[in-house]
Amino acid sequence: MKQKIRTAIFPVAGLGTRFLPATKATPKELLPVIDTPLIQYAIDEARDAGIERLVFVSHPSKTAIERHVMDDAVLRRELKERGKGALARELAQTALCPVEDDVVFTMQEEQLGLGHAVLCARDHVLPGPVAVLLPDDLILGGQGCLSEMAEAYARSEAGHMVATMTVAPEDTRKYGILSVTGQSGALLSADGMVEKPEPEVAPSREAVVGRYVLDPSIFAALETQGTGAGGEIQLTDAIARSTGATGLCGLRFSGTRFDCGSKAGMLRAILHLASSDPEYADVLQEHFGAAPRPRSQAA
Ligand code: UTP
Repeated sequence: MKQKIRTAIFPVAGLGTRFLPATKATPKELLPVIDTPLIQYAIDEARDAGIERLVFVSHPSKTAIERHVMDDAVLRRELKERGKGALARELAQTALCPVEDDVVFTMQEEQLGLGHAVLCARDHVLPGPVAVLLPDDLILGGQGCLSEMAEAYARSEAGHMVATMTVAPEDTRKYGILSVTGQSGALLSADGMVEKPEPEVAPSREAVVGRYVLDPSIFAALETQGTGAGGEIQLTDAIARSTGATGLCGLRFSGTRFDCGSKAGMLRAILHLASSDPEYADVLQEHFGAAPRPRSQAA
């Protein structure tokens, strides 16, 4: 019987260079999709999946993330005094509270890569497998990607699970691609991953996106992981190295993923949400003639 996934790690220390100058003073993870910052979606997804402890791996220059994530009693009082009690209650519901929630903020002093950021969380995780959520991969629709993964993980035999989506052949070079060995419904068995392969050598069209459930042995693998692509300590390299011992599988999640780390992906996410909200029908009509229809994508 598999152990429960009790901890979620949110690596949020990155520089966010693709969004400069917006990310000069505002962390990428706080960029809003209309009115909700990316980090909020990831937190809600983790809470829906029954996660007990949330570990944020941040950077000393990104203190605004903690200010957003944690409850702000002064702001709520101010809102109430101004007759905006409903807004104050809404904020209280989405914020994390140090008394009721198990929240840890730890720092990655130097941005040495995603694998290194996950390693920084090591001393703060609860026993058992850990979830890793990259907030700039926004997954909308479906039951919640991490909830789906947690259910599938309990049934699977593999120690590591990655979320995957099927991409067009010419797009394999943009993603880590799973080497699939078998399939049972949405669950894919795999024996490895290949980083950004050309279409002709890609082992499949199953692209890995920013949701992982990892066996705790990942930390030992990360400790001895050298630098990889871009001179960074890569999480995918450590997963690939420890796959022989723990096993690896993929889950084709049912929602739609938006790459909100890129400007085009962020725009797609905003249009997707706006086009399903009657509040913006006039604006879209005005601008496009007809409101764009929501569609699946993989920007
Ligand atoms: P990205 O690969 O998108 O890198 O990180 P980035 O630095 O944030 O953005 P660009 O590419 O320069 O525009 C994916 C996730 O991993 C975190 C980021 O904060 C983001 O949530 N990350 C990345 C870290 O926490 N530490 C790192 O050293 C690198």
